[in-house]
Formats: sequence, structure tokens, C-alpha cells
Amino acid sequence: ARRIIIDTDPGQDDAVAILLALASPELEVLGITAVAGNVPLALTARNARIICELAGRPEVKVFAGCEAPLARPLVTAEHVHGKTGLDGPVLPDPAMPLQDAHAVEFLIDTLRREPEGSITLCPLGPLTNIATAFRRAPDIIARVREIVLMGGACFEGGNITPAAEFNIYVDPEAAAEVFAAGVPLVMLPLDVTHKALVTAERNAAFRGLGTPVGEAVAQMTEFFERYDREKYGSDGAPLHDPCVIAYLLQPGLFAGRQINVEIETASPLTLGMTVADWWGVTDRPRNALFLRDIDAPGFFTLLTDRLATL
Ligand code: BDR
Ligand code: CA
Repeated sequence: ARRIIIDTDPGQDDAVAILLALASPELEVLGITAVAGNVPLALTARNARIICELAGRPEVKVFAGCEAPLARPLVTAEHVHGKTGLDGPVLPDPAMPLQDAHAVEFLIDTLRREPEGSITLCPLGPLTNIATAFRRAPDIIARVREIVLMGGACFEGGNITPAAEFNIYVDPEAAAEVFAAGVPLVMLPLDVTHKALVTAERNAAFRGLGTPVGEAVAQMTEFFERYDREKYGSDGAPLHDPCVIAYLLQPGLFAGRQINVEIETASPLTLGMTVADWWGVTDRPRNALFLRDIDAPGFFTLLTDRLATL
């Protein structure tokens, strides 16, 4: 199985990504590291455990990480995800423990201990934990197999400012360091995730599973689609973060280009923008596989089939 660490700020779409990973035998989740993002750290660390328990996997190791971005105050997204970050279903408080170690310590220790090139990092929130680990232990950078992350946008424009996508905007300094680190990097930007919409029919398929997981996922997407439907008249909630896990399982569902992507960290107008050289107009190094397209029906079939196994 491919060994992954999920770095996350749940978040309903993070929650669905975690469920998809835990439902997939091709993946081994070595740990889940929580970061502040959609809601503050105490809530993301709690929500991650709620989801492991929902999946029937209380033995999964969950670590709490950084409480605030490297250089800025935290910006959260309760306007999308609700006060708890996981509004929608009523789920029990977690009984499983939070691990004692800090998420950054876990990242460093695990990457040092496991064979070089064997671990894939899957960031689904701001990149604070990853950048902090890289700063503190630069020797681990070359040991990472690949980073497959949800973040950024190009043709689609931003969702927290006109220029920036939320995860990158919240900690642009962290993102700039991670994108410059030289690790093979795959990005699932809004250009992809805004095509992964939970239509009424797709949500009925989740509910139709007739399981606690199916019902909880249906209620989560019903909650956070209110934002996108009311604000943009879109067809349903975009399932951003599960695209990362789906890419690991079936890369053929996605298409894009290997290009240069740089992160804006200075301009107040475009802070956190992923400046993507899609047309190859610079000589800057191609540091990211920027995915732009998704087979959305194929993605939802995969997701629903896997959730059915939980
Ligand atoms: C990203 O921001 C968060 O609100 C979602 O969980 C996703 O990771 C989308 O911009
Ligand atoms: Ca997220």
C-alpha cells in the first residue's frame, strides 16, 4: 500500500477525504496531522478524530500541529464550514485520544525513520505544519516521495480573495517555502475542485448507501453546499479535498501540465495567489503538476463505491 500522511483542517470536505482514504486498501494512513485553517486547531484536531471514529478506525494516530500561520494571524472559514468546522451531521464527541507528540515532531520523526522516498504527504489545509517541519529538519525534504495537495487556482480565480484560494492564502509564506522545496508536487486547485460538485443526485447516492457514513456525508455536503449554492448559484458543494485522495487512487481521472508555480507573498492585492505559468512563458523551473481537469462522474463513482465499504 502507498503510505501517506494526511495534513488537514476538517472541514466537511477534509472529512470526506479522510473517509475516502480510510476506505481504500491501496493507501496506508500513517497518521493524520491537524492544522489550524477552516477553524482553529482545537476544533480541527477534534474533528479529525470524530471522522476516524465514524469510519470505525479509532486506532488511527491523530496529532495536533500549528495553531497559527508562520507570519500572519489565522484567517478561518466558519462562513463556509459552520462554527464547529463540521456542521451538518450530529456526531458524538471523540473518545479516541489525541497523540502526545506535536504534528511537526511526528512528520519529522516519521520521515527520518521510514525508507527514503516511501512517504507521500497529502496537505488539505494551510501548509503551516509542512513548512515548519521542513524549516526545522531540512534533511527530511529529500526523503518525501511526493506532495499531493489541495490548493491554489489559476483560470478559476480565488475563493477567499479574487486572486487567492483559501489554503494558500491563509499561510502564503508556508506555501512559498513548500513550493520551492524541490519535492515532486501535485496540486489540485480550484480549477479541478470546482468541477467536483455534489449535485442533488450525487448526494442522494451517498444517502442511498443507507449507512451512518453515507448519511453523515450527505448531511455534511448539504450543510456546506448552502454557501456555494446561495453565493454562486452553483450545482452543489465542491468536494475539494477528496480530489487529493482520488488522484492517488486513480490518477487517470485527472489531467494537467507540469509547470512553474510561484506563490505571491508581498502584494496585498494578490496575496496567496498561485502564479501558474500554464503557457510556459518563463524559464522558471517546472516545480508542480498543475491539474486542471477531472472526470467528475468517474470521481463520484469511485468515492461512492469506497464510502460504501465503511
Ligand atoms: C479549501 O479550503 C477549505 O475551506 C477546504 O477544506 C479546502 O481545503 C478550498 O479552498
Ligand atoms: Ca481543507
